[in-house]
Amino acid sequence: MSLLSVQELQTHFIYRDIDYQFREAKALNKVTLSLNAGEVLGIVGETGAGKSLTAQSICGLLRPPAQIVGGSVMFDGKELLSLSEDEINAIRGADIAMVVQNPRSSLDPLTQIGKQLVRVHQTHSGGTILESRQKALDMMRAVGIPDPLGRFNAWPHELSGGMAQRVLIAMALMNEPKLLIADEPTTGLDVTVQAQILDLLEDLVNQFDMACMIITHDLGIVAHYCDQVAVMFAGEIVEQGPTKRVFQTPAHPYTQQLLAATPERLQMGIRSQLGGQPPDLFNLPTGCLSQDRCPKSTKKCETPPPMIDVSSGHLARCHFAESDNKAGSKGGD
Ligand SMILES: Nc1ncnc2c1ncn2[C@@H]1O[C@H](COP(=O)(O)OP(=O)(O)O)[C@@H](O)[C@H]1O
Ligand code: SF4
Ligand SMILES: [Mg+2]
Repeated sequence: MSLLSVQELQTHFIYRDIDYQFREAKALNKVTLSLNAGEVLGIVGETGAGKSLTAQSICGLLRPPAQIVGGSVMFDGKELLSLSEDEINAIRGADIAMVVQNPRSSLDPLTQIGKQLVRVHQTHSGGTILESRQKALDMMRAVGIPDPLGRFNAWPHELSGGMAQRVLIAMALMNEPKLLIADEPTTGLDVTVQAQILDLLEDLVNQFDMACMIITHDLGIVAHYCDQVAVMFAGEIVEQGPTKRVFQTPAHPYTQQLLAATPERLQMGIRSQLGGQPPDLFNLPTGCLSQDRCPKSTKKCETPPPMIDVSSGHLARCHFAESDNKAGSKGGD
């Protein structure tokens, strides 16, 4: 059984107009993905595809007007969508932890970093302060913060961007989560620090035997670090499977376009390189959401495509996925 199984998750932003009419931005449409213990899953897609919203929906971090209107999130045998706010808070920070982009905004600027780590441990562990303090020092060491004892009383503003991200990772790991979600964990850091942080995450995932979801717009990161990849477009997972297989024989036209663009061009932003606009979330087309951007679109695409099993564990949401893959297959991995 998967550690995390998300089925047909739908998150909408629901507004009530001045004339009391409801308007809904359908930001997540049928997000279906799964992740096993010990696996690293990359979620990739252009800005606005719904990557962060997927993470926030899984973690119970949505605020109005965002609302989950359908689907299921099974984690470790529990349906998270039927838990109370207290129950989900108890899981978040303990069994599921999150690391976000721009670590400084996630650290409390008025509290020394050691105290912040102790606080996270105390909230969930029920141990003594001394035990939490020792755990904080151990974690600071594990994430490569030099001289943890000396840095225990440092203030967030005294840290470089890379060091602040290490503190945030230490904080995420304080309660040894089963699932770590890292949302663009290295965006904004310089290239050398990016590689250091990602190598660190990879080591920690192995050391603590966690599952990890890395959200990124960087295909190079996915190719290097992720066992599985899920490609998002307009709030849907359009393709998921083992990274090597998806990258060698992409079955969805959007994935094919992404992979055909050079890394240098993708660095400049996925959407600006592929051209076109995402569909209007307030007024989605009835058929395939990729229609307006898809070079292979036909009349059939005016009906929603099902998720097709391209090969074992490799799925694609396109009417023509199976035949495309057969025609273009080079033999998988
Ligand atoms: N308050 C809001 N009202 C309507 N749509 C929103 C709101 N906030 C975010 N969105 C939309 O939700 C979509 C998903 O956003 P997000 O998950 O942040 O994308 P990503 O992380 O892939 O860049 C985007 O298209 C964004 O425009
Ligand atoms: S169903 Fe049609 S529009 Fe959608 S991705 Fe496939 S070919 Fe393109
Ligand atoms: Mg995002």
